[in-house]
Amino acid sequence: MESLNFNNRTHIRWTKKSPLRSPSYLLPISLLFLLISLLLFLSSKHISNSLLSTLKNSPQPQSPHLCTSQKTLAGEKFLWYAPHSGFSNQLSEFKYAILMAAILNRTLIVPPVLDHHAVVLGSCPKFRVLSPNQLRFTVWNHTIELIQSRRQFLKIDCGYVSMADVTDISKLVTASDVRVIDFSVFISIWCGVNIDLVCSKESNKQSSLLDTLRQCGSLLSGYNGNVNNCLYALDEDCRTTVWTYGKDGEDGTLDSFQPDEQLKKKKKISYVRKRQDVYQTLGPGSRAELATVLAFGSLFTAPYKGSELYIDIHESPRDQTMQLLIEKISFLSFVPEIMSAGKEFASKTIKSPFLCAQLRLLDGQFKNHWKTTFLGPLPIHIFVMTDLPQGNWTGSYLEDLSRDSDAFKLHVLREKDELVTRTAKNLAASGNEKKFVFLSESLDRMKKNCQSSIFT
Ligand SMILES: *[C@@H]1O[C@H](CO)[C@@H](O)[C@H](O)[C@H]1NC(C)=O
Ligand SMILES: *[C@@H]1O[C@H](CO)[C@@H](O)[C@H](O)[C@H]1NC(C)=O
Ligand SMILES: *[C@@H]1O[C@H](CO)[C@@H](O)[C@H](O)[C@H]1NC(C)=O
Repeated sequence: MESLNFNNRTHIRWTKKSPLRSPSYLLPISLLFLLISLLLFLSSKHISNSLLSTLKNSPQPQSPHLCTSQKTLAGEKFLWYAPHSGFSNQLSEFKYAILMAAILNRTLIVPPVLDHHAVVLGSCPKFRVLSPNQLRFTVWNHTIELIQSRRQFLKIDCGYVSMADVTDISKLVTASDVRVIDFSVFISIWCGVNIDLVCSKESNKQSSLLDTLRQCGSLLSGYNGNVNNCLYALDEDCRTTVWTYGKDGEDGTLDSFQPDEQLKKKKKISYVRKRQDVYQTLGPGSRAELATVLAFGSLFTAPYKGSELYIDIHESPRDQTMQLLIEKISFLSFVPEIMSAGKEFASKTIKSPFLCAQLRLLDGQFKNHWKTTFLGPLPIHIFVMTDLPQGNWTGSYLEDLSRDSDAFKLHVLREKDELVTRTAKNLAASGNEKKFVFLSESLDRMKKNCQSSIFT
């Protein structure tokens, strides 16, 4: 949502709940901001210890192992994509990535959580978006920054947090709904780079490792085109394609949303949006199927003018397994550490039923709606999620709200709040213990293979 401009759509997304409901019912909503805050400071190391100890003793790579390391990947096929924009957006893409990986029977490469709006897509309705190649490479660049960045605050070296550290996908993995591998583990193997060295301050080899990672990233992003049976980098994006699954007679048909004549003339564009069945296009029998890595660009979609911007898979009546998976991922819980922190905040700090308001920076629509939305017995407790720092509320509607303290009691979480830092530390600690317990067995196979072939 964040990256798109909808003409008549409000950018405000606040959730109005009856104050009669119990606060615990409202918790999941409040967790979002907690999470966003957490992520800014949360750090943890992501590589399974056993793999790292193997990597530590490995020789420095001369060039990316891309494609030559296929043997070590144990015949496994992978799906990569390029997340972007804010956290909600990344979460929604992650769900679609799980679904796509399941449909195509590929191991999903679980990306890190990117900093808020560090990477932006552009606007699908305006047909103005980064190409999949550009997007993948930008994401790669940012990921390297995350790997390099150090969150001194927590005295933990590496500032990289995986989506699987914050969302709870353990049930999906144990039920074999999807196979996953962490991005950092994947690139350790694929690029032959020891991420632990990249993170460490002492390493004087850092810059050459980073160069290797960059080269590897531009290859994997598709800048050098597709590579034999190694990489299939999709060019399709929301300007040309709407992915469907298992709907009779839809594959190859025109989507109902097309660029209008005015836009075509003004911007000299000639895009035609086709509906394509993802399994028929990229599954068995296709060229894409042969590739070890299949790389999507954005997996963001949203309803638009009666259609979907990019992915129109809401049900799968003919494939019961996928139907169940669609239901399972419709709500993806956060990990227990975050859930309990949210409950603690609600019960110890807010202590009352509350409303949640998610407000984007300088959101003009807010002032038109808040009076008719924030109703109930006074004072009304509101948990505010916003990317406008509190020091900058002056002159905004948020200042008006906070001044009227008889009517409104505002609650916010800040990065340095004790609850946030404590939860971040808990997460980092438990992350190290539980890391990859839910990885598929194929990773174990890969690790064994690594030990015997690449890294010896
Ligand atoms: C899915 O992939 C796994 C691992 O590559 C393989 O063992 C399995 O047979 C595949 N399933 C189908 C239905 O193709
Ligand atoms: C990636 O980073 C490199 C070096 O930091 C920079 O030269 C390049 O322009 C960046 N590319 C993108 C797409 O951001
Ligand atoms: C907040 O205020 C500071 C200092 O006045 C300013 O530098 C910064 O750009 C503002 N940030 C936003 C997001 O408005």
